[in-house]
Amino acid sequence: MLTIAHLSDPHVNLKYHPEHLPRLEAVLRDARHRGTDHIVISGDITSNADERDLLATRDLLEKLKLLDAAKLTMVIGNHDVYGGPHLADEVLSFPRRCQSCGYDEKVKRFHQIFAPVYRGCYSEAGEYPFVKLVKGTAIIGLNSIARHSQYRNPVGSNGEIDETQLRMLEKLLSMPMVRSARHRVAVLHHHLFRRKDEKHLHSYSTPSGIFALIEQETLKLRKKRKLLGALQKGNVGTVLHGHVHFTGDYPRKQIRCYNAAGAVFPLLPDQELTYNLLTLNETGVSCETPAIALPKEELEFLG
Ligand SMILES: [Fe+2]
Ligand SMILES: [Fe+2]
Repeated sequence: MLTIAHLSDPHVNLKYHPEHLPRLEAVLRDARHRGTDHIVISGDITSNADERDLLATRDLLEKLKLLDAAKLTMVIGNHDVYGGPHLADEVLSFPRRCQSCGYDEKVKRFHQIFAPVYRGCYSEAGEYPFVKLVKGTAIIGLNSIARHSQYRNPVGSNGEIDETQLRMLEKLLSMPMVRSARHRVAVLHHHLFRRKDEKHLHSYSTPSGIFALIEQETLKLRKKRKLLGALQKGNVGTVLHGHVHFTGDYPRKQIRCYNAAGAVFPLLPDQELTYNLLTLNETGVSCETPAIALPKEELEFLG
């Protein structure tokens, strides 16, 4: 049996969101307290791709003894590459910042900072896709962050698994050690959700208006169908992701998809912090959703 605590999108930002790092710590401690075997954080670790925030997160993980590939899996999110506008006057200049962010350097630096988490992961080339075995389960990490494009990805928030990564994913999924694993779990930052999946969504905390948000031109994962085809062919039964800030799950084909982006920075500011706690055993995968109330001081501050 393997238990996985899945959380996402902590958006650590010491300058504009100093409450996120202690919230992340509270969620990680809750997961640890429940005796979880493994933790998955599916991107947007930071809000602004700042070195200081990445290092503060690494220090927290080190303090909690989680900076270890056997205990933690992490993938990169769009905010870890492009950052985000945090002040009104940054909005206009943000597309230009995305254009010149230095995509490859950002991905490399992310992996350098969290290097112990990637130790022993197998990859054909570069950082993604990678695979690791945790207690008989294969965990596959993908980079869904699309490169900047003036028209297709103007503010860096759209996703894409390009052809090269897709081919390498197919190769990884066909490896004997992956095929013979008890379960296959794919982790990426972007969602596989479409508006028509609304009726199948299971969530305790989805605010109204979320579906319109997901449909926006700047929150899409492109080539979803090809990715789903590859995952299905490789017998992947579970997808863990973040990006749209709520916690819930839904089916796509025969794959159960879990979003945990309400774990630290939920869309509605007074919501509880919720993450996914999955149990994988011989009979399948089950999930519960622990909830952590915001600290009293924070609720008082929110009024
Ligand atoms: Fe996010
Ligand atoms: Fe995101």
